[in-house]
This record gives sequence, structure tokens and C-alpha cells, in this order.
Amino acid sequence: MTTDILLALDQGTTSTRAIAFDAALHPIASAQQEFRQHFPAPGWVEHEPEDIWRTSLATLREALGGAGVDPRRVAGIGITNQRETTLLWDRATGRCLHRAIVWQDRRTAEHCARLRSEGAELLLNERTGLLADPYFSATKLAWLLDHVPGARAAAERGGLAFGTVDCFLIWRLTGGRLHTTDATNAARTMLFDIRRGDWDDELLRLFRIPRGVLPTVRDCAADFGLTDAVHLGAAVPIRGVAGDQQAATVGQGCFQPGMLKSTYGTGCFALLNTGETPVASRTRLLTTIAYQIEGVRTYALEGAIFVAGAAVQWLRDGLGIIATAAEAGDLAAKADAAQSVVLVPAFTGLGAPHWDAEARAAIFGLTRGAGRAELCRAALEAVAFQTRDLTDAMRADWPDTHAMVLRVDGGMAASDWTMKFLADILGAPVDRPVVRETTALGAAYLAGLQAGLCPAPGASGATHWRLERRFMPTMSREEASRRHGIWQDAVRRTLTH
Ligand code: G3P
Repeated sequence: MTTDILLALDQGTTSTRAIAFDAALHPIASAQQEFRQHFPAPGWVEHEPEDIWRTSLATLREALGGAGVDPRRVAGIGITNQRETTLLWDRATGRCLHRAIVWQDRRTAEHCARLRSEGAELLLNERTGLLADPYFSATKLAWLLDHVPGARAAAERGGLAFGTVDCFLIWRLTGGRLHTTDATNAARTMLFDIRRGDWDDELLRLFRIPRGVLPTVRDCAADFGLTDAVHLGAAVPIRGVAGDQQAATVGQGCFQPGMLKSTYGTGCFALLNTGETPVASRTRLLTTIAYQIEGVRTYALEGAIFVAGAAVQWLRDGLGIIATAAEAGDLAAKADAAQSVVLVPAFTGLGAPHWDAEARAAIFGLTRGAGRAELCRAALEAVAFQTRDLTDAMRADWPDTHAMVLRVDGGMAASDWTMKFLADILGAPVDRPVVRETTALGAAYLAGLQAGLCPAPGASGATHWRLERRFMPTMSREEASRRHGIWQDAVRRTLTH
């Protein structure tokens, strides 16, 4: 039977999606399921591992069913996932010892503050490209080993396995035969030396992590085992794995140094391809692995913003001033041009380049004339201003960005008003692709590459990226700088340090 279908599984923070693609990477069927978020204490965020597993299996089956294809036609599954989220399970039973600790969880803030005050951040940053922040997996795993009764002893006996979501799903899909992750997910643990491409013994000692809990690490396009036939009706090969922002970078076809993508979901993650040499950031961006193919690592500078679309959700669900997210763009377009309301959406602190976990959201510039429309405009403008902060930082770290074009995706990229304003504030073209599910597209591409269905990155045939619309800046640079200046002033007044 011809194998010509690629199946992408995108296990995200609030929902799980599966999309079936044909060999030309056109989506043919998809399925999506949301799952419950657990907030057991202020600042804590957890997921039930069985929810992650159940929704993954269900959406994979539904996408296959929707495509109406025999599972034996699947050339490969590509897995992409919310990154950093930490799971620990029993190797004998496959059961997790605790709920997954989600990337947004801040319970290890004190541990990170201690690392900074002890001067360990420099070592962390040099080896992993990351910063001492609870965002990453290492302190979450240390917390599990220290707080789950018996976990440390079991880990030291070799009885436990740690993994990010990709690794947990590979383990479950292959019936526990494979304990493996890919280089991009490993790069987000804060235990992985991104230059050598291996777990780092000094960091393992620093975090008291026994080496035996760690998975092996493979390329993003590689053989990650066969699924148990019982799951999808046939044994299907897993052939691609990448963290979701890295998969989006691949899906956006950002294969050349200088290419930049930004994904606007709950948060916003901008990745700039910097080629085969990691670039150390002087502006508190992250240095990370964009993808690893045939043993060659391509690096990126990453800016992570914790709130983008979440601010619009707050207008809808928290304030109740809009009924749908789409309404925000319509109202913003009608806002009074004379008002300059600024919303700094630091609801869960500020990420790059400020990294202020204690900052909280604030609204500035309210007058009696300000209303719903001005608040909507402020929420959407904040996305553009935050992106500008990231691209300014990227320019400082990697000056070769003069001809910058930003490739966008994610839910907010659907708003024409927001994308036009983004182009104005950046002073650069903003390109929106035809397939906006770029995360799934990237995962499918990686699986297709390994299966021999897709051309190598940069090869003349690697054209899975197609432009839907380009937004060009028309605002004068003076006006863009004036507005950005007002934003920067508001941020300064919000920071706690
Ligand atoms: O680093 C966190 C990121 O991978 C989460 O992405 O799309 O699941 O919110 P998303």
C-alpha cells in the first residue's frame, strides 16, 4: 500500500489537535479537543497526564477517520507540543507520579531566585541559552523529586522516567518501548548543553537530577518507533518531533539565517533563525535550538511573551466588553484616534526581554472619553509593541536583520487590523501564510522529511510555505517611534525592578 499521508499531533497548552496532511502538505482533515486546566494554588498550573493522552489518541483517530484513510497509508506521525511542561512516570506501570507541571507554573520562583543569588545563572545561560526562570523544566523536575513521597529514591534506583510532553506521548504510543525526546524539547529543560547536544553533568548535579531519569535525544526528523497497532488500527511510524514554537519555525519555512516568525496564541513566541552558531543574547532573549536535522543543529534567538491573545480573552471573559475575540479588531478600528490608552498585559508577569515575574497588568492614559473600543485597541496594540520590544532586542543581539520580514501565525494573526498595526510599529513587512496551522505543518514536514516524502530544508522544492497576504507599513517612522515611546514609558512604570 502507498504511504502518502502525514499525521501531525499538536499537543498544546489548552487543547490537543491532530491534522492529516497529504504528501504535498495540504491539510485534509483535522480534530481538536480542549482539556481541563488545574490551578491548585495561586501561580500553579497543572495538567492531568491522562487528559493529555486521551485527547491525543482521540484526535489522532478522529483526524484519520475524517480523512477516510487506511492507517497503513500513514507514512509518519509528527509530534509537536507545549514545551517545558514536566512529567515523571513509573517505568514499570507507565503511570505518572503527579500531574504534569505546566510551563506557566511559577511554584519554583524561589528556587530560581536562589540560583540567581548564588550566581548560577551565568553557568545556566552559557550551557543552555536559558535564564533562571520557573518557565523551564529543571526546577519543576527537582520539585517533583523533592515533593512526591518516594520519588527521589525510586529515581535513583532507575525506576522513573522524566519527559516533556513529546517524550511522554512517544512512550505511551510505543507501549513504553522508547524513552526518547528530540533536541528542541531537550533544549528547554535547562539540563541540556545546546552546543554539545548532550545532557550536562554539572547541571544535573546542580539540580540533583539522577541521569537515569533522562530520555535519549534524537534529531527532529528521525525514527521514534512504531505505535502499538491497538491505538490507530495499524503500527504507524513516528518520524518527526519538535517543540511547538520550533515546529512553527519549520512550518513557516524559516530555514535561512535572518528569517523570523512570530506565533500569536495565548502568548507570543518569536524565533529568529541565526544559523549553525548559537548567538549569546545580551538583551535577555533566549538562545535555543530551532531544529536539528541529520545531526546538524540550527539555532535561534527566541523572545517569549506570556500574554498576547490572553488579553483579548480577558476583555471577553473577565470584563465582558466583547462577545467574541473577533469583535476586538472591529472595535479597535473604530477607536477614537485622539485617545492614547495603553494596556501593559503583565497578568502573569513580563517575559522577554524584562523577565519580571512580579509585575502585574496596568492600564494607563484613561480619560472620560475612553471606552470599550479604546480598551480593545490597547489590547491589540500591546501585541505589536511587545513584538517590537523583541525585534529591537534581536537587532541588538544579531545586527544582520536590516531586511527583516516577520512571518506570523496563530489565532491573532487572523486579525487584519492587528497585523497592519504590527507592520506599522515594526516598520517591516508582515507575511501571513495560507496554512496558518504552521505548528502542525512543521511537524508533518519533519515526519515527511524522514519518510522521504518532503524535500530537505532549503532544497529548491521545499515550498510548503505559501503567502496569503503581506501587510506593509505605512505609518511614518516618527509616529511609530512616538507611540512606541509611550508604550515603553508605561512598561517602565509597571516593572518591579
Ligand atoms: O513554551 C511554551 C509554548 O511551547 C506553549 O505554546 O501554543 O501551547 O501555548 P502553546
